[in-house]
Parts: sequence; structure tokens; C-alpha cells
Amino acid sequence: MKAIILSGGKGTRLRPLTYTGAKQLVPVANKPILWYGIESIVRAGVTDIGIIISPETGEEVKAKTGNGDRFGANITYILQEQPAGLAHAVKVARPFLGDSPFVMYLGDNLIQNELGQFMTNFKEQHMDALIMLRPVSNPTAFGVAEVDAQGRVLHLVEKPKVPPSNLALVGIYFFANTIHAAIDRIQPSARGELEITDAIQNLIDHKNHVEARQIEGWWLDTGKKDDLLEANQIVLDTCLQSAILGEVDARSQISGRVQIGEGSKLINCTVRGPVVIGNNCHLENCFIGPYSSVADEVTLIDADLEHSVILRGAKVVGIQQRIVDSVVGQRAQLKLAPQRPKALRFMIGDDSQIELA
Ligand code: DAU
Repeated sequence: MKAIILSGGKGTRLRPLTYTGAKQLVPVANKPILWYGIESIVRAGVTDIGIIISPETGEEVKAKTGNGDRFGANITYILQEQPAGLAHAVKVARPFLGDSPFVMYLGDNLIQNELGQFMTNFKEQHMDALIMLRPVSNPTAFGVAEVDAQGRVLHLVEKPKVPPSNLALVGIYFFANTIHAAIDRIQPSARGELEITDAIQNLIDHKNHVEARQIEGWWLDTGKKDDLLEANQIVLDTCLQSAILGEVDARSQISGRVQIGEGSKLINCTVRGPVVIGNNCHLENCFIGPYSSVADEVTLIDADLEHSVILRGAKVVGIQQRIVDSVVGQRAQLKLAPQRPKALRFMIGDDSQIELA
């Protein structure tokens, strides 16, 4: 069994964060989303992993993720020149995959369930494809499945205007080598992409063995800001373990599950977990409320935040009002004059969103 993780594409929905980086490297609880997928695949016993990368962000993904040693895996990078669709990515990966069955994992997806049981079912029952489904409130944003009373898949459709059900396709699939012939038989969709959803439908049309399982645990597709904040909240809630490696002065108060990285300093701060603070941060006179993730090398002075994600190297100084539900990009700076400001002065990147609530 091999695995491919799709980490190409354009990431337009997470702009401006993804102008300067790959969306799969945006951190959730201070760890790149992509790494959760790698770890989950390795836990299921698959260590031969191909990562699909794009010309724009591939080097960054490679540099950050490496050859797989840190995960106990062997990672091969596979360049997809154009984001021509999920099935196109499988085509590009074919020399790596050979005739092996494989798990395909979309690099911006996160699920709570372990993959092991699904993989065992897939192998023992000699399936051509095993897909995972989950009920969602906005099925038009996903691939959607129609299933019969026994749970057999009747029909799949990608981002339908009129969804046949509320069961979305989760971005994790198990395939036998028969998927390649199905991909060869399909045409690009109306949006110009070779859709994996159409390839699986093609398997169904050719009477191949396709099954679906509904997943019970959480599933996050970190495409947009609110998804990212939700992913951050859930992962902090379920996975964070306390560890204080940095320095915390006597005037600071820490409660709940809190992780503070090496070289970080907290002076006169109140931190209420779950909160993760990375390495080499400087925090002074701050309140850091639940569900906040502060990446490495961040400076926060006279700041008050909650349910927010602050990326590497950002600076927030003198903002007395509480910052909530916010994402602050890498090296971004947010400062307020010591007296009540008479004017607001901005340098805001394309597609940024500022809300003076
Ligand atoms: O998240 C689940 C959904 O993922 C499914 O319900 C849909 O059926 C499936 O088509 C997919 O839809 P998205 O619109 O969310 O796919 P997206 O374009 O965001 O791409 C998913 C991942 O694959 C992302 O990490 C980028 C990568 N990718 C995408 C394309 C189009 C590639 O590596 N190459 C590509 O050509």
C-alpha cells in the first residue's frame, strides 16, 4: 500500500495567507495541516508517501517537510505543473504508484478517525474504491453522494447546484489500481478539471466494487478562515498536552492546558488554555484566552486575544480591545499609539479583511 497527499493547487480561498505560502502549510495548533495527514497515514502503517506539489509552492513544502525521516516515512515529491484536478494529480503520480493500491489524502483535510480500520476493510473486501462520507449543512461546496438504504453508493456528483443528499465526500480515498483506467475514461468537468469524483462515478458505471463509510468523528476542510479557526479550536481541544518550556515570570498566571515553546518569555501575562505558544516569542502584559495559537517568533505586548491564530513573526502591540476570531499572517504588524488614536493608519495586503467591530 502506498499513499499520495495532494499539496498542489492554488489555495485562493485562504488568501491573503496563501499569497506567500502553501495553504497546506498554514498551521493548525502550530503544526502545518499537511503534517497531520502524513502522521495519520504513517500511523496506519503506510510509509511510502508521494506528495503532489505545485511549481509555486512546492519548494516551500519540500523545505519544511523534508524527506520523511521526522515522520518515519519515505517521501517522494511529485510535481504537477498545473492544478488540473484531483484525478489529474493521480495521473501525474502514476509512475510513483505503479500498480499498488493507495490511499489518497487531500492536504487541506483533517479527520479525527484513524485510517487503519478503513484500510483493513478496503483490502479484505477487495474493493476498487472506498470513500468516506459525512453529513454537512452546505453540500453544494463538496462532492456529494447519493446512497441507498444499505449504504451503497448510487451516484456521485461534484459541487452540485441541487444536491441529491447532504452527504459530502471527505477528502480521503482508498483506491485499487483500477482507478487509473477510470481516470483515462473521463473528460475534464465544466470547470476544466479532471475530477476524482467523476472517476469514482466511472468505476460505479463499470460495475466496479465501490463502497462508502460514514465517518462519525470531526472532519475539517481548512479552505477558509472560519474553517481554519474551527480546526484550530478542535485540535487544541482534543490533542493539546501541557508543556511549559519557556520562561514564565512570577506575575504571570497560566491555567488550563497550555504549551509554551523553548526560548519564549512571558511577562505579566494571563493565559487560559487551551493555548499553544511557539518558540522564541515575547509576550508582555497580555491576556491570551482559550483556543489561541501563537506561532514561533511572535511579539505580543499589551494585547488581549482569544480564539485567534497568530502566525510566525507577527507583532501585535498596544491593542487594548480584545482581538477575537482573527488570523494574523506571518510577519504582519498591528500596533496602536499609546494615547487614544486620532486616526487609523494601514498598510493592508490584497484580499485582507479588517473589521473594527
Ligand atoms: O475537501 C473535500 C472536497 O475536496 C471533496 O468533497 C470534493 O469532492 C473534492 O473535489 C475536493 O474539493 P475542493 O474544491 O475542496 O478541492 P481543492 O481544489 O481545494 O483541492 C483539494 C486539495 O488538493 C488541496 O490541498 C489542493 C490539492 N490540489 C488540487 C487540485 C485541483 C492539487 O494538489 N492539485 C490539483 O490539481
